[in-house]
Amino acid sequence: MNEILKVQDLSVSHDGMNILNGVSFSLNKGEFSYLIGKTGSGKSTMMRSFYADHDIDSGSVEICGFHLPGLLQRDIPQLRRKVGIVFQDFQLLFDRNVFSNLSFVLEATGWKDQTLMKSRMLEVLELVNLPHILDKSPHQLSGGEQQRLAIARALLNHPEIILADEPTGNLDPDTSLEIIQLFMDIASKGTSVLLATHDYYIIEKHPARLFKVEEGQLFDLGQILFE
Ligand SMILES: Nc1ncnc2c1ncn2[C@@H]1O[C@H](COP(=O)(O)OP(=O)(O)O)[C@@H](O)[C@H]1O
Ligand SMILES: [Mg+2]
Repeated sequence: MNEILKVQDLSVSHDGMNILNGVSFSLNKGEFSYLIGKTGSGKSTMMRSFYADHDIDSGSVEICGFHLPGLLQRDIPQLRRKVGIVFQDFQLLFDRNVFSNLSFVLEATGWKDQTLMKSRMLEVLELVNLPHILDKSPHQLSGGEQQRLAIARALLNHPEIILADEPTGNLDPDTSLEIIQLFMDIASKGTSVLLATHDYYIIEKHPARLFKVEEGQLFDLGQILFE
């Protein structure tokens, strides 16, 4: 079976207010897709429910072989190793250098061997085209480089899928396109990517399958071709 993410009849709410109502879709291994929809439509909430950070009212999510709801608390770290998460505001630790930003995640996810840790850090930095920056502070990096670092961090544990929540929201158009290209390259190597955005410019430049959230429903718009 090739499905990395399978969502069936998912409903979620905030404080009694229904946000998603019966959402079903699936993503295959190595697939890159956009998740679009107005601000407040529920994109972030949907993604949070996929990594066990938001309650599910009904329906189910199967992600990287984990089943939600009902996943035991103690299994959540395992799930979060297999699901890479990237945010609009990068969420880097600005009081420490790149090495520490990455080792922090590795240590938190159970890595112990310093040699293996260092070589994995160098590997992921190479994947995002940021070699030779282990000693730098995030402050010394441009916005695009900071997001590349955040993507490298998301790749550390060989995730099967990356959920990227408006990852280009703080970047200029050219840098945004480079970041989308990077996600597409990552997908082509086998890691699925679901990328929330409302930036039609990047979709036009880098077309892919589109899912739209509207009024609690999810619509599969397929691959829209722009003239
Ligand atoms: N922590 C929260 N508590 C209560 N309501 C929230 C919370 N987070 C988001 N919401 C509401 O849920 C809805 C969906 O928000 P969100 O998932 O952030 O949408 P999007 O990511 O598409 O902009 C909005 O109406 C928002 O106001
Ligand atoms: Mg959002």
